[in-house]
Amino acid sequence: MTTPQISIRNLCVDYITADGDVRAVNDVSFDIGKGEVFGLAGESGCGKSTIAFALMRLHKPPAFISAGEVYFADENGKMNDIMQLSDGEMTVFRWSQMSMVFQSAMNALNPVIPIVDQFTDVIMRHTDKNKYEAVKRAEQLLQIVDIHPNRLSDYPHQFSGGMRQRLVIAIALALNPKLIIMDEPTTALDVVVQREILQKIYALKEEFGFSILFITHDLSLMVEFSDRIGIMYSGQLIEVASAQDILKNPYHPYTHGLGSSFPSLTGPKAALIGIPGNPLNLLDIPTGCRFQARCPRVEEVCRTTANPLRQIEANHMSNCHLAVAGEAIKFVELETA
Ligand SMILES: Nc1ncnc2c1ncn2[C@@H]1O[C@H](COP(=O)(O)OP(=O)(O)OP(=O)(O)O)[C@@H](O)[C@H]1O
Ligand SMILES: [Mg+2]
Repeated sequence: MTTPQISIRNLCVDYITADGDVRAVNDVSFDIGKGEVFGLAGESGCGKSTIAFALMRLHKPPAFISAGEVYFADENGKMNDIMQLSDGEMTVFRWSQMSMVFQSAMNALNPVIPIVDQFTDVIMRHTDKNKYEAVKRAEQLLQIVDIHPNRLSDYPHQFSGGMRQRLVIAIALALNPKLIIMDEPTTALDVVVQREILQKIYALKEEFGFSILFITHDLSLMVEFSDRIGIMYSGQLIEVASAQDILKNPYHPYTHGLGSSFPSLTGPKAALIGIPGNPLNLLDIPTGCRFQARCPRVEEVCRTTANPLRQIEANHMSNCHLAVAGEAIKFVELETA
């Protein structure tokens, strides 16, 4: 990893519910380097979007950040804890330093306002550009995402789904942020358009040098477009490694299960296994490892002892008690005909 752009330390986010306090994000720490794409994966409800909203400080009650620091590198490379920013300071910081493409991005555009106003609104609110300059910047942004600037006065419904997605990405780029959080940026699109958009995002990242937190269910896309990947389970980060390594040499049975439950397009034929059992009830957390009830390798220590994320190999972390350097979990490979 390069020098960190953002460094998240021991982040905890809770939801206050009628049944009690649910800790949806528990003691999560990771860094994203300058210009790095960090992928965050894990099954539905594991806490990915909660992290994204907390980082942007766009979480709403009943969610609250109960612990943690989030350091963000400024122009001079100094790391400042953005959790200490006042609401006013955060409003200035948001979009100009860190922006987000939301999970339901296609609905993020206001249907009754022409897109020119949606662009100029963001630009004029955060910079001292006048309307004319903001429109010029909006035209430039449209071109960046390969949409003709003469479409600027159109309404969202006049664009295809893929184009709307690109518009939302263009708005996220408007103020040249250093980090863009993308929460399922292409999930609603067909696979061909998905790939086109991710290639576009990647090319823009290369050109402008921002970092990306990339959240998706699609592991093959994630491996293709990320530098490093963090796997979450039940509110915790359970494994972090390079994109090349994490599914090939997993050090956590859950990651192994994830890797075994989707077909590889290019690798050897392998048995699709899946992960039996259900996600944990966050109101009923067991002592020890959170994956114990579903784990094929469970041992006594997993039921009794806490398991913080730890370094297993250089650039490879796992919270599995049983992980031993050099002994990654092997895939069951089928004999090819
Ligand atoms: N408003 C809320 N009130 C109570 N609990 C919530 C609320 N929003 C989310 N949660 C809980 O927080 C946990 C994490 O949810 P989150 O949306 O972050 O998951 P996710 O990993 O983004 O899932 P997905 O892949 O489906 O988008 C879940 O258990 C969810 O039930
Ligand atoms: Mg989500």
